[in-house]
Amino acid sequence: MLTQLLVLVILAISANAADHDMYHNCSRVDVCSQNRELERQERYQIILEGAVFSQGVASFRVQTTDGSENLGLNITAIEGNIFRVQIEETESSRYHIQDVLDGEPTVVNFDDVQLSLTSAEIFLGDKRAVVNVSPFSVEFYANDVLTLVIEGDRLTLENEELRHPFTVGVSFPQALHLYGLHEHADHLALRTTAPGGDDPYRIKTMDLTYFELFSTMAMYGAVPVLYGHGINATSGLFLHNAAEQWVEITNKDIGADAFFMVDSGALDIFIFLGPSTTDVVRQYTSLTGVAHLPPIWSLGYHQCRWGYADQQDVQTVIADLDTYDFPVDAIWLDIQHTQDMKFFTWNSENFSDPFDMLANLSSTHRYLVTLSDPHFKVEEGYFVYDEATANDYFIKNLDGTNYEDQCWPGTSSWMDYLNPAARDYYSSLYLYENWNGTTPTLGGIWNDMNEAAIFNEEIEKTFPYDVVHYGGVSNRDIHNMYGYLQTMATHKGLIDRDNGTLRPFILTRAHFSGSQRYAAFWTGDNTAEFGFVTISYSMCLNANLLGLVFCGNDVGGFFGDPSDELLQRFYQAGAWLPFFREHASQESERREPYLFSEEVQATIREAIKTRYAHLPVWYTLFYEHTRFGDPVIRPLFYHYPNDVELLEVDDQLLLGRNILVKAIGESEVTSVPIYFPGGEDEIWFSAQLDGTTFPGTGWTDIPVTIERIPVYYRLGSIIPTKQTSRPSTTDMRNDGYTLTVLLRNNDTAQGTVYNDDNLSFEYRDSQKYSYSDLFGTEEQVVISPIDESDNEEFLIVVDNIVVLTYNDDGTVVKNSYKHDVNGVPINQMKYEGKEPLVIILR
Ligand code: GLC
Repeated sequence: MLTQLLVLVILAISANAADHDMYHNCSRVDVCSQNRELERQERYQIILEGAVFSQGVASFRVQTTDGSENLGLNITAIEGNIFRVQIEETESSRYHIQDVLDGEPTVVNFDDVQLSLTSAEIFLGDKRAVVNVSPFSVEFYANDVLTLVIEGDRLTLENEELRHPFTVGVSFPQALHLYGLHEHADHLALRTTAPGGDDPYRIKTMDLTYFELFSTMAMYGAVPVLYGHGINATSGLFLHNAAEQWVEITNKDIGADAFFMVDSGALDIFIFLGPSTTDVVRQYTSLTGVAHLPPIWSLGYHQCRWGYADQQDVQTVIADLDTYDFPVDAIWLDIQHTQDMKFFTWNSENFSDPFDMLANLSSTHRYLVTLSDPHFKVEEGYFVYDEATANDYFIKNLDGTNYEDQCWPGTSSWMDYLNPAARDYYSSLYLYENWNGTTPTLGGIWNDMNEAAIFNEEIEKTFPYDVVHYGGVSNRDIHNMYGYLQTMATHKGLIDRDNGTLRPFILTRAHFSGSQRYAAFWTGDNTAEFGFVTISYSMCLNANLLGLVFCGNDVGGFFGDPSDELLQRFYQAGAWLPFFREHASQESERREPYLFSEEVQATIREAIKTRYAHLPVWYTLFYEHTRFGDPVIRPLFYHYPNDVELLEVDDQLLLGRNILVKAIGESEVTSVPIYFPGGEDEIWFSAQLDGTTFPGTGWTDIPVTIERIPVYYRLGSIIPTKQTSRPSTTDMRNDGYTLTVLLRNNDTAQGTVYNDDNLSFEYRDSQKYSYSDLFGTEEQVVISPIDESDNEEFLIVVDNIVVLTYNDDGTVVKNSYKHDVNGVPINQMKYEGKEPLVIILR
């Protein structure tokens, strides 16, 4: 009876669950089951004699303790406080992944090397690597703080015919929490998985159907990056390897251990020595690159559904969104737009005139995004199948035949994106002349099912381990970067299509380290349940620390039908994630926002309009990401690293430095606990600008209604917004800016704002942009160009300034300056660039 009840309760909590028989746990995967219990033991010794230190590379010989095998250890110094550690057999056939780093890292000379009988110390500024002979370890210090150790006692390297597994332990002696190891639907701070607890975190790109909350199961993305955050320093590592891996985490009172069990490939680890979290993130993005600026329309609201069935539907949905006053920038077509699931074709019946559909969309300033998967229908006469077969562009079985299995079109083969010629061919399919019926209004491409997903439960719904890629490379060695390579080719396709002028927009489901250079991603097929609202915050925050800034979820939940309340909470939270799209499975009811009651519509409308109003903030932060590598949304600890109370807060985010948002992932709440960071002097103003403020003194219960989620602006900041409501970002182009200045009596406020043509690469290639510092007091606001190159065409025009002044007694005074600042309407005070513009308020 009790068990039955329990089952019922579990079913009530979540109707969907991942199939644990089909997806393997650690005990069913060799690399994990054979190594998880590995004893700590000295298996290798460093031979200091004969070590070579030359031009930023230190090379040591390593021997198995019984002297049976020779290996090499290389430690390389990389620009920006990064070390690279490589350990490999002298006679090695390990595969080294290509094309993931954003160019070759710049090697720099060591500042000094000191040798003793038992160690070699390598100095790089105030950072240091110490190679200890016995027990073998490599220790890393940042300003004399020991922050990361590569441990020799769990190092193993093995070689079999088709795989080259290795294991390595890493400890973070002073970390309070570990973050990273994307992608999992779990809390931001990594949990202890050992001993005897959950499975280690599995990193393997997979189509995890019905993914569950708080799980270490592998998902669509794979980013083998781990950060250890402590009060004295943050450090991190990137395992430059695309094979399946499992990572056991042991959190201790102080310090944490990670044990990597890797199925194949090279032991090639980059170490980031911070010392701050900002530094570590910048070090990682300096290696794997940053996203280019997205076209601004892709930061607007996206309307999607698996099931917009014909071009009339597309037109009607957009018209209805307009009628009911919901701003939107793009509508999406899922697999049904194709003829029999053949990508790069249009369904002849339902999408018989794509030019007409695109022209209609364009006349409303909207874009279309269509889905394009990496599998191709096996059908003679289908031009992509024929051409790819003729040129040998498909992935192979061990016997050299094309690998075939089931996916959307039925029997399919998969493009081998490891092959540069196949990539080029695939890119060329996006050219206007090759894909009939396309125009620039087809603004974006959605690469889905690219883990790759396969309808075969025998192989965990992804490639079997032994399929073969270009050059005889086993899938084991590159599995996790397959989707990455697809987006790289799609990106090139869109760049070529528009002669390098327009910024491509691509959404991908599978992703890897460096995917930020090519695509946005979303968290995949979530479920219409409350917990999935908040998990999107922890997942996208984690991704943002790992360079993958353009992250979002399926608003509303992919599987199932959200209640009205849940749908509103999804919209409210999703409006503050970088990528903002409603999407639903074909099994779900239609749920375009105008289909709901007026009350529900009003809430959703406010959420979407709030997003549009804050686009100047989003755009500026994306620009700052391209320039510095910083995350767009940030966990609280990013800006408040010394506050141990907030290290696990992951249902709140900071948009940049100045906006604090709390997602509501519970039903029928009348108040929510919010952590206000920063101490007594850090004052948080309600973004409603109603004069409510809270000091940054930790947890506070805040009353809430269904109308909106809590959002706060930080004292001392200037928030640039555009307050005129328009149907799309294109329509907002010439609107003036509102600057909201959050001041303490007699103090100052600061911000930045960025602007350009919204679409092209001229910001990057011809410095056509303006990037300005904003400085405010109660008397004046000063707008100063940050760069010499600031471009007059893109100087912002301010038409409203709102000043909120916080008095010492806790009261707030609000003043608004719309017109007639000193007799001059502020919208006529065009900012001339080069020289600061001073707007006198009184
Ligand atoms: C996958 C995608 C989903 C899409 C569906 C049909 O499940 O994750 O977003 O709608 O395939 O293409």
